[in-house]
Amino acid sequence: MKVSFKELGLVNTRAMFAKAVKGGYAIPAFNFNNMEQLQAIIQAAAETKSPVILQVSKGARNYANQTLLRYMAQGAVEYAKELGWKKPQIVLHLDHGDSYELCKSCVDFGFSSVMIDASSLPYEENVKLTRKVVNYAHKRDVTVEAELGVLAGVEDEVSSAVSHYTKPEEVIDFVKKTKCDSLAISIGTSHGAYKFTPEQCTRDENGKLVPPPLAFDVLKAIEKKLPGFPIVLHGSSSVPQEYVDMCNQYGGKLPNAIGIPEEQLRKAAKSAVCKINIDSDSRLAMTAAVRRHLAENPGHFDPRQYLKPAREEMKKMYIHKIINVLGSNGKAR
Ligand code: G3H
Ligand code: 13P
Ligand code: ZN
Repeated sequence: MKVSFKELGLVNTRAMFAKAVKGGYAIPAFNFNNMEQLQAIIQAAAETKSPVILQVSKGARNYANQTLLRYMAQGAVEYAKELGWKKPQIVLHLDHGDSYELCKSCVDFGFSSVMIDASSLPYEENVKLTRKVVNYAHKRDVTVEAELGVLAGVEDEVSSAVSHYTKPEEVIDFVKKTKCDSLAISIGTSHGAYKFTPEQCTRDENGKLVPPPLAFDVLKAIEKKLPGFPIVLHGSSSVPQEYVDMCNQYGGKLPNAIGIPEEQLRKAAKSAVCKINIDSDSRLAMTAAVRRHLAENPGHFDPRQYLKPAREEMKKMYIHKIINVLGSNGKAR
């Protein structure tokens, strides 16, 4: 059964992005696959009154079931109100849609925003596929994110061995032809918890790995070509060392996991970057808390006993990102 996102109480990204670009902050786009992640995201957004984008990848949709996801998103809106957030601004977004059919199906299932990621295709094919998705989505007031340039990194469904920065000389033509609502760019971020090899990094005076900086010159050049146009950053987990250490201390094996320093994301959030994608940090927070709990309480076997601290840890992390990195707190009162 087809449903419009409006019936679920969700919003699209149009007004949210326009406000964020003007206001010099970014909207958090947090991925979720399960109830505990969703609860933590909504609690964090409701407490800080931050607009929020709930992201679902193709893999997450297969994992959780599309029907269940639709009602989870609808439930999230009602839950936010119950928590005292009078006018929740919640987007349900398809992350890295890889075909017209998948994007169409998400639009029909109540998503308020979709990403068509045709960035691995030749330029003209990317334009053509993105335009086709935009045509379908815009008729239903659903907003569309597209991508130009390739991010490095390996995830379940998203992978590339090397990155290619977005070419600023292509962005005007791309946006004009596709009519997309926002553009994901490649300036040195990448997916997952291993964003850089130790060889790509330098070391600070304490021996800590310092990754190479993002290509802010490329971002600036893109902003100059598309003044005020919403830009998206994928692969923006910072891979907090405390979670990596906690995982490793309690039986995990995450050698040399490294992310994007938060100061760089803070700087990006003040520019035309108005959506910042974070998934790996949530995975790390959850896994670290579960590992610690089970190591300290070997007799526990009720999932609520270890998922509750996991949920609390994720919520703490989301609130930190909203207030201290993205600056979106108080923007959805
Ligand atoms: O960018 C990819 C997201 O982190 C989603 O990852 O495909 O493993 O759900 P996933
Ligand atoms: P991270 O792996 O850095 O969290 O990136 C997530 C992402 O870009 C989702 O689209
Ligand atoms: Zn991504």
